[in-house]
Amino acid sequence: KPSKEAFRPAFHFTPEKHWMNDPNGMVYYQGEYHLFYQHNPDSSVWGPMHWGHAISKDMVNWQHQEIKLFPDEHGTIFSGSAVVDWQNSSGFGSKENPPLVAIFTYHDDKKAAQGAIDFQTQGIAYSTDKGRTWIKYANNPVLKNPGIRDFRDPKVSWHEDTQQWVMVLAQDDHIGFYSSKDLKTWQFESNFGADWGSHAGVWECPDLIRVRIEGTDEYKYVLLVSINPGAPNGGSGTQYFVGDFDGEKFVLDSDYQKMLTTTPAVFPQGLDFSNFKNGLKNWQVSGEAFHIVNDQPANTIASSFKGSDEAIGTLTSKSFAIDHDFINFKIAGGKHHNSTAIQLLVNGEIVKTASGNNTGTMTERSWNVSQLKGQQAYIKVVDNERGDWGHIKIADIVFSDKAAKEKYEPSIWLDYGTDNYAGVTFSDAQDGRHLFMGWMSNWQYANQVPTEVWRSAMTIPRELKLLQTPAGVRLASQPIKELDSLLSNTQQKATLTGTNSYQLDELFTVEPGQFKVSFSLSNAEQVTDIVLSSDKDEYTKLQLNPAQGQLVLDRRQSGLKDFEDGFASLQTAPLQKGLEYYDVEIWVDKASVEVFVNKGVSSMTSIVFPTSPYNKIQVSAEQPLSLSDVKLNNIAIEK
Ligand code: FRU
Repeated sequence: KPSKEAFRPAFHFTPEKHWMNDPNGMVYYQGEYHLFYQHNPDSSVWGPMHWGHAISKDMVNWQHQEIKLFPDEHGTIFSGSAVVDWQNSSGFGSKENPPLVAIFTYHDDKKAAQGAIDFQTQGIAYSTDKGRTWIKYANNPVLKNPGIRDFRDPKVSWHEDTQQWVMVLAQDDHIGFYSSKDLKTWQFESNFGADWGSHAGVWECPDLIRVRIEGTDEYKYVLLVSINPGAPNGGSGTQYFVGDFDGEKFVLDSDYQKMLTTTPAVFPQGLDFSNFKNGLKNWQVSGEAFHIVNDQPANTIASSFKGSDEAIGTLTSKSFAIDHDFINFKIAGGKHHNSTAIQLLVNGEIVKTASGNNTGTMTERSWNVSQLKGQQAYIKVVDNERGDWGHIKIADIVFSDKAAKEKYEPSIWLDYGTDNYAGVTFSDAQDGRHLFMGWMSNWQYANQVPTEVWRSAMTIPRELKLLQTPAGVRLASQPIKELDSLLSNTQQKATLTGTNSYQLDELFTVEPGQFKVSFSLSNAEQVTDIVLSSDKDEYTKLQLNPAQGQLVLDRRQSGLKDFEDGFASLQTAPLQKGLEYYDVEIWVDKASVEVFVNKGVSSMTSIVFPTSPYNKIQVSAEQPLSLSDVKLNNIAIEK
């Protein structure tokens, strides 16, 4: 059994003890970065929320501080932001000593327990001593609840053009925009998002930033929106939108409008059976129609066939109790596929059935099962057509109290890994940088991960940039340069060429579970595997598949995994096709792997719990491959 501190990251922020989720109130002021965070000081599972606090000069080395915001008569303290009020618009400080002002959500759980829906409101607090002590505003809340159930996570920034404060707020399935002159009175301006992006879960933790497109003088607004569930690889994740904002309204760029209305040609997400207690691994496959793609039953299936008799089969789920009003899912079917269907069975009888449309486009469907609540049921996916060609694809079968829209809603994601959630940027960062940190976990299993003393870490800080790519403008995540201070003794090789496999730990000295490895891959037509492994047969595999435009992160054998059924997953991300070379950068800590490809245009963050830290790195392919600029840095920690 690993020791109690075995999974404590070496270079990621963790609370000293007990539960942490979202980063909050991140702000830079007078040489110090402040990180507040959702914190339950009494337990290692989520509970009454406080704002924990830490201070750093470089976002790398953090000093723990006392808890700064405690629950009060308005509720517990949910997520929010902090700003430097330079003009003293709030009157809480002076121009000479501008106040720091925190804007956060009050969550009144007593009211919620009584069945009210207006239990979330926004409050503020201020500090005039560089964040050391905080005073809550006497007239809280400053933004009352207009009757919206999920009404939270205010992120405030100064809008230069209109000389006012702007707040973005998550409101059920969209973002509300508000303005203020003094941080104390807020005026509603507009809504955005009910028609765009993914709506498979509730919207949370927005951020609005004005970002220069690298290499141009053009600026765009980027709106980050976290969503839970509905992320591309299950559970919670963060999508983004690029557009313009005039102080009142956010308008999505026409490119993004097109992209988000066009269904991607490639089935993007695989199956998310995370809401089934036992996951797909307990489904029964009979016949041959259903190929478990790459033998990866945890979250991906597809059925595809070509005019032969073998192309017939069924996939049957374990039985489950119907416990919500709707079962929602996404479905697509090819031509000649009338008899291919997904069915819901109760007592062996088909009570619901659906088949895909003929275009191959994913559409969202809902079965209203409110009449069947409490009954035992199972699902069958049936493929009994011996046609010319075709396929059926099903994704995201989710129990819900609400019906899904009859439409598939594509989205663009900040990070395709499972473990980067609720991230936002620091206020007032210098030199126009957009410095981001996310919570390195996922609501799907956050409360169960195998640590007891503390629970959860933040991602490494990243700088967000808008890069021009052949596909259009994309938001890239790049590890901040301050992290370089952690890197000791760079070991490098200008090129490695001639064979199809390189064991980097034989070429370099690797500090177990504390290193960064990077290289650039030049003959990138073929599938390349990067395997990080330990002395204990545990590994995390990253696979680059440029021909198919896919990046896959496999943590099925990564270490401890049985604490939750869906954790041992295979995660996929889109990868740009046909580039001359692919630069790959991987940061490995005791319990995480963070991957950045193509200057961070593709990123995947994943937590893992190897019982012995990863100390081997193999890069391999079927044919000889060439790596250049190969670097290995061990990560030195002196605290
Ligand atoms: C996101 C979130 C926020 C909320 C906070 C509660 O992870 O659900 O929407 O403010 O966590 O801890």
